[in-house]
Amino acid sequence: MAEILVNGGNRLQGEIPVSGAKNAALPLMAVTLLTDEPVTLRNCPDLDDIATLSNVLRGHGASVDASWLGLTVAGETDSGSARGSLPTLRLHTPEIASIRAPYELVSQMRASILVLGPLMARMGRAEVSLPGGCAIGSRPVDLHLMGLEALGAWIELRDGYVFAETARGGKDRLRGAKITFPKVSVGATENLVMAATLAEGRTELLNAAQEPEVVDLCQCLTAMGAQISGIGTSHLIIDGVERLGGVTHQVVADRIEAGTFAVAAGMTGGELILKNGRLDHLGSLVGVLHETGIVCSEISGGIHVVSTVDRPRAVSVTTQPYPGFPTDLQAQTMSLMVMAEGSAVLTETIFENRYMHVPELIRMGANIDINGRVAVVRGVERLNGAPVKASDLRASASLILAGLVAQGETRLSDIHHLDRGYERIEDKLRGVGASIERLDGGT
Ligand code: EPZ
Repeated sequence: MAEILVNGGNRLQGEIPVSGAKNAALPLMAVTLLTDEPVTLRNCPDLDDIATLSNVLRGHGASVDASWLGLTVAGETDSGSARGSLPTLRLHTPEIASIRAPYELVSQMRASILVLGPLMARMGRAEVSLPGGCAIGSRPVDLHLMGLEALGAWIELRDGYVFAETARGGKDRLRGAKITFPKVSVGATENLVMAATLAEGRTELLNAAQEPEVVDLCQCLTAMGAQISGIGTSHLIIDGVERLGGVTHQVVADRIEAGTFAVAAGMTGGELILKNGRLDHLGSLVGVLHETGIVCSEISGGIHVVSTVDRPRAVSVTTQPYPGFPTDLQAQTMSLMVMAEGSAVLTETIFENRYMHVPELIRMGANIDINGRVAVVRGVERLNGAPVKASDLRASASLILAGLVAQGETRLSDIHHLDRGYERIEDKLRGVGASIERLDGGT
């Protein structure tokens, strides 16, 4: 099995490129189901999740030019192209060949549920496998379904699938409605915005997610002819239109990747330029890092990050929906607090099981106590390299970060979790001085 080896102690210094955001590219790919014209996504990251969703969309009749993905995408032989060569994805769905998204694909990647809204908007019918949970939580989709019902869809859950249909056997269009989310949901907001673009009349989404990836999706849909106002706020208003046109859209830079590298700079006492990163999208991470002694500032074409202290100071953090502290940076920030001066209390309010990285960090010498959703981290002066196992995407990143400062070698296994959301992370970190390599496992 492939592994990543890290030898700790190097200070990171230099310029590191930030890729397009996975969590923007995935909903952006789904917009191809809303139009019979071509959709081109520039700055698309070369990730396993992108390849998986490409397969799901192919099943609906989309042609997806993913030849630059370093993976074999169903229906195409692996072109053998170097991964991350041409980050442009071309999608085209002249007509929907199937309304069914099968379990074997959806279960590989939960964000496949994002085909539900577009299928209902364009076809009035959908059969989408329930995505099921994952390592970090049960990941229900009740808010997605509640919203579609409010838009006039009839929903039945049977045999692990969502069967959805508009009135008259799918012949009617969805009808605009006023929907208030009881809790903020990025995916439900995205699914319902896409569904509402072709609904009859006005839809209002209250307590909608405001993440930059949601903004990026709304901006792309607007360029396709959708009528959306309140973009970037928690109150979105979508006036349905008859049809949407094609688009060429640039995927927004990945704020979670940028935040991961900012933490890496701070942990190693280094200084990085995060090329193409957006400081304004780092939200409350900037303030938290500043309190630890890591200063982030905007420069032309990216973000400058520099550590101003010998050892970061511990700072407590509670995850919240954007612009609060991102749950997707909780694990990475915990690695920072593990070696910081003092104690920090981390509270994970979004997911019920997002501390899978804790036992592995403890094996490296961390001092962490978990009580439900609260983690108390007492900073230690030294971490020791160890063989550790990845459990989910962001936990994998947190273990690499810990390896960057640990004494000796850290060997990370199950790195397929990592490849879902980070593009060539070992190459990028090596490029700024880390001692890190990927062993492809071979026999
Ligand atoms: C998106 O997941 C991201 N994934 C996640 O990133 C991110 O952690 C999450 O938003 C929160 O920011 C993508 O964008 C592909 P939610 P999503 O719906 O949409 C509950 C990563 O590491 N909920 O905002 O699935 C849910 O259980 C991934 O890149 C319901 O109860 O997250 C969670 O507790 C991990 N019912 C909370 O809401 C629903 O119908 C937030 O989930 C939907 C969600």
